[in-house]
Amino acid sequence: MSIENKTADLTKEEIVAFVWDKGRQNTDYWKRRLLVGKSWDVYLLRYPEDSYIPYHRDGIEGKKHYRLNIVLKKAKEGGRFEWEGETLFQLWSRIFLFRPDLIPHMVHKITAGTRYVLSIGWTRI
Ligand SMILES: [Fe+2]
Repeated sequence: MSIENKTADLTKEEIVAFVWDKGRQNTDYWKRRLLVGKSWDVYLLRYPEDSYIPYHRDGIEGKKHYRLNIVLKKAKEGGRFEWEGETLFQLWSRIFLFRPDLIPHMVHKITAGTRYVLSIGWTRI
């Protein structure tokens, strides 16, 4: 049986789940790991309509966590990234370099469209 025949019976949600993993915080965003190393990773994040992420930190025990988030596609409405405290670097409301282990951060609910983010993370002792 060809892949076309197998996927023909799947719903759109099943195909999405095949390619994407559920994101953290259980709030209906999706992540796809593109590359990973011993102390770094690259993810593509997908925020469909109605998804959001509440305030949180991403601590990694015994290490400093750095993350460069690049908004590839903004949602039509909603999906604004917000944080408390200082950002290490911010450009055009699309590029954010920050310490997710120290800085509480969140994504407002996407009310129309889909938001895509390329997320590059690394740790240091
Ligand atoms: Fe986070």
